[in-house]
Amino acid sequence: MRLINLDELLEAQAHVWNHTFRFISSMSLKCAVELQIPDIIHNHGQAMNLSDLALALGIHHSKLHCLHRLMRILFHSGFFAESKTNSTDQQRAYVLTTVSHLLRKDYPLSSTPFILGMLDPVLLKPWQYLSYWFQNLDHPTAFSAAHGESMWDYAGHEPRVNHFFNDAMASDGLLAASVVLSKCKGVFEGLKSVVDVGGGTGIITKVFAKAFPQTEFTVFDLPHVVHGLQGCENLNYLGGNMFEGVPHGDMIMLKWILHTWSDQDCIKILERCKEEIGKKENGGKIVIMQMIIENQELDEHQSTETKLSFDMGMMVCLGGQERSEQQWSKLFAHAGFAHYEIYHILGLTCLIELFP
Ligand SMILES: C[S@@+](CC[C@H](N)C(=O)[O-])C[C@H]1O[C@@H](n2cnc3c(N)ncnc32)[C@H](O)[C@@H]1O
Repeated sequence: MRLINLDELLEAQAHVWNHTFRFISSMSLKCAVELQIPDIIHNHGQAMNLSDLALALGIHHSKLHCLHRLMRILFHSGFFAESKTNSTDQQRAYVLTTVSHLLRKDYPLSSTPFILGMLDPVLLKPWQYLSYWFQNLDHPTAFSAAHGESMWDYAGHEPRVNHFFNDAMASDGLLAASVVLSKCKGVFEGLKSVVDVGGGTGIITKVFAKAFPQTEFTVFDLPHVVHGLQGCENLNYLGGNMFEGVPHGDMIMLKWILHTWSDQDCIKILERCKEEIGKKENGGKIVIMQMIIENQELDEHQSTETKLSFDMGMMVCLGGQERSEQQWSKLFAHAGFAHYEIYHILGLTCLIELFP
């Protein structure tokens, strides 16, 4: 037996502790967002010390040291920066970083609905069932082991879940739309009609509809998602089930759809869409926005970790998966598509043009 190196073991133990406590980082972030700490610091207009922050939050002075500890871990994770105040007491004061602006509730590109949605107890419960799910075949996902039905069915009768999920999905729509319009506008040019299949509440499509007033846009999603939503001159909402059929369009958009489904279901969805787009010569195509899991040596460590976390989230809650280019390419070929082009323009997400 190899002699045990004690220093190596202590390092290993720290590694285990770090990963055991990863949830504390997520929960501290959620707490800061629930308390609206980023908004309060932003509205203060200058670096904000702990006493002023506690006062604004209505936190009793006996908990001031606890607030300091919350801010310390958030500072450590890059969510705030520290600066010295001008006052004579030389207290630490906090300012926002680029990341913290995304945590402001009133920021147009805010990530707060995503944070609150993804860390809601309904989406956290399935993780307690993951090992059970691995060893039992009675539930298609850990979500259904925890809740007794699929996430889409659950959201269909629980308006709170329907709303927080739709808001979470919509929260990256404005940023994604701005990036596509600035880097890939040509993808939309010259089209008569576009259908956003599984388009949620249509945040991204509204931006495209404004940028292309000559094009007719349809947001197609489950009836409970689009119920009561108002369109405008060149945008309308339609409820339905994409496995039964999708509306006709020169172009069909699938943003963050295919990663929620198995390969067999993705092929069915792509085949449905293929029936409804025109020929390639007439602009017929599908535009997919999804992550691509790269060769791990090529991707940055942090990006790989985020993509692998999304992949686990898809498996646990929806029975889907994130895919490598090779897996995408296989799916496209199975669904009868001849050609695709990938644009690495959206940070961790790619835009893929898929032609019949
Ligand atoms: C991960 S969300 C993506 C939403 C939106 N495309 C976005 O990126 O913000 C998946 C969407 O697919 C919709 N969906 C699920 N099953 C569906 C079905 N059978 N027919 C139509 N839409 C469906 C969900 O309601 C949800 O809005």
